[in-house]
This record gives sequence, C-alpha cells and structure tokens, in this order.
Amino acid sequence: MCPIQASANPPCLRLLLIALLAGGCSSPADPDPDPVQSLPALREVSNFPVGIAFQAGRIQASAYNSIARGVFSSLTAEYEMKMRHLSAGPGVYTWDNADALVEFARSNDMQVHGHALVWHESTPSWVENFTGTDEAFETQIRQYITDVVGRYGDAIISWDVVNEAFENNTGLLRQSVFRRRMGSDYLARLFRYAREADPDVLLFYNDYATPWDAAKRGAMFSMIDDFQNRGIPIDGIGLQMHVTYDFPSIDAIGAVMDSVAARGLLVHVSELDVRVNPAGDLTSLTEARSQAQKARINDIVTAFVSLPADRQFAITLWGLRDPDSWLIDFWGNPEWPLLYDEAFRPKPAYEGFLEAL
Ligand code: G3I
Repeated sequence: MCPIQASANPPCLRLLLIALLAGGCSSPADPDPDPVQSLPALREVSNFPVGIAFQAGRIQASAYNSIARGVFSSLTAEYEMKMRHLSAGPGVYTWDNADALVEFARSNDMQVHGHALVWHESTPSWVENFTGTDEAFETQIRQYITDVVGRYGDAIISWDVVNEAFENNTGLLRQSVFRRRMGSDYLARLFRYAREADPDVLLFYNDYATPWDAAKRGAMFSMIDDFQNRGIPIDGIGLQMHVTYDFPSIDAIGAVMDSVAARGLLVHVSELDVRVNPAGDLTSLTEARSQAQKARINDIVTAFVSLPADRQFAITLWGLRDPDSWLIDFWGNPEWPLLYDEAFRPKPAYEGFLEAL
C-alpha cells in the first residue's frame, strides 16, 4: 500500500483513500486516473447519512477500516448488537464487540443505528426456552431493553426496536416467543419500554418486502396508524431493501417510502443490496448486469432524495464488498450485490449512488 500523503484536509484524505484502495498505488496526480478511481467519498457529497453494516472483527482490517470510516457516516452492527450476541442470560451481557463498533463510529464521526433489540431470529436460548411466567418473561425483556438502550445513550441515536414481526404474504403477527409470551399487543409495549429507556433515542420498526408484499405492508401501516392513534412512540421505519436488479418496480419502492414519510416518520433504507443473479444464470458479473445494478441503485437513491429532507434518515448498505454479502450463502448463488468488488474497488453501482446525490 502506498504511503498515504498526509493532508490537512480530511476530505482530501478520504478521496485519496478511495483512489488508493480502488487502484492500489495510483497517485492523485495521475494525468489520466481510471474513472472509478477518483470517486468522492459518499459521506462528503451526501446530504444524509450513508451507512454500512459492519462487524467488529473488520475494524482491524485496514481496507475495511479505511473505506468504512472514509466513505460512510453511519454504522449498523450486522449482527453484534442482536440479543443472541449480547445476552447469554438474564442480566448477563457480552458488550465487547458492540462497544468496539460504537467506539469505532465515535472516533470516526459516524452515527450508530442500533440493530435490533427484538428479532425472533436472533434470540438467545434463555429467551426461547424461558420457563418462568409470562409476566416474568416480559419483565426480563423490558430489563434487557433498558440495559442495552441505557448503556449506549446518545452514542446510538436510533434503534430497530422490533425487526420483522409480520409473516410474509399474510401480514399476521409471527408466532414468535415474544408474541406467545407477551400477547398480540407486545409490539406497542416494546416500543414504550425503549422510550422509557431513553427519551431521545429514535425508535424504528424494520422489515423487508414491504414494497411488494401487500399484506405485510398493510399490517405494518396498520400498526403505525394504531401506534399514532394511541400515542405509542415510533419515529421511523426501516425499509430493508433487499431487492434485485429488476424487482420490485421503483414505483412500488417509492410508494412505500412516500407512505412512511406521509405519516411523519423517518425513512431508513436500512439494508440495501441489489442481487444481480437471482435466477442463478451468471457465474461472473457481466457488464450488462453491473450497469443494471448501477441504474437500480441510482433509482432507489433518487427516490430517497425526493423525500422531504426531514424524512430522510439514512441509506445503509448491507455490507461492503460483494463476497461479504449474506445473500451468497442464503440463496446459494454467486452474487455481486454491493458497492465494492472483491478487491475493495468501487463498482459502477457506487457511481450510480453518487450520480443520484
Ligand atoms: O463471525 C462469527 C464467527 O467468528 C463465529 O465463529 C461464528 C459462529 O457463531 O459466527 C460468525 O458470525 C456470524 C455472522 O453472521 C458473520 O458471518 C453469525 O453467527 C451469524 O448469525 C451472522 O448472521 C447475520 C444474520 O443477520 C443473523 O444475525 C448476518 O451476518 C446478517 O447479514 C443478517 O442480517 C439480517 C438482518 O439483521 C435483518 N434482515 C435480514 C438480514 C439477512 O438475514
């Protein structure tokens, strides 16, 4: 890695970082730099926070570290702030990785979005197999929320209080342990407990597929309307945005963003990735699909920036490099869904993001 020339101006340093990481040792003075090697850092040109799903183990890895802090202004823990990874038992916590991520963000002027207080897919065994009464269960969950939100205070400006509470296609509440032990109004009580833990933290509900799953979308908006009618605290909605290069339509995406904003809530594109190989027909990323991905990212960012500025919470990419994506194991296909390639070089998708700003 070339020595990074010291610069009095951090943005220049960030630009240089992009150039160095993208193309190795190209000097910014190159007469004809590769167009992908002179891209501004998103955090320098965006009027809203641009986030990255990150992991504590990558803080020490120079390329991840440099790009995360040089390009992004928001951080979401990809998994280390979930209950299964924080809590081994009632009142028993492992804070190290979450603390490291919060400190990394603080020292690099990045905001932290907490993900996620309650998610049925990341519950520790002591919660799933709780043998006490329903009342004792709820007391433990309330204490968990109080302990976690209270620990970080202003260091974490927002939390996904609940992730993915509604079933696909039916919009019914999932029969999670939380629903079973706390009853059908558990969502409202969890949001209240989070508000009691911190009067200022922004409280989000987070889910996927809402642009195309009408039943889930309807259930989410019914919950929002009910919350707002009853004075249950909620500040924003996370639209995960795990999409493909050609589905769903940008109109469907924009409509759900607009509906959230119309209710006075913040919009967080919370887990953006764009599959380019949903049918498994590719063994390598073609230029055509790469350009389609660029257009897709551009459309989504354009839809987001068309929202009122005070509704634009953040856009968070669900990972840095293509090989890091959860999608590869989940779907079992080769995939290239993110903004950076395997060599930490910004892809055309990165340019698509920039061009929408
Ligand atoms: O890195 C550790 C490794 O050191 C350890 O030995 C191993 C065994 O426990 O775990 C490894 O961590 C895994 C981590 O992914 C990194 O690969 C965790 O077990 C595994 O649970 C974790 O999966 C995450 C998953 O949520 C469950 O928390 C994925 O990274 C993450 O991308 C995925 O993200 C979810 C969102 O939170 C909610 N929306 C859907 C999205 C995709 O499922």
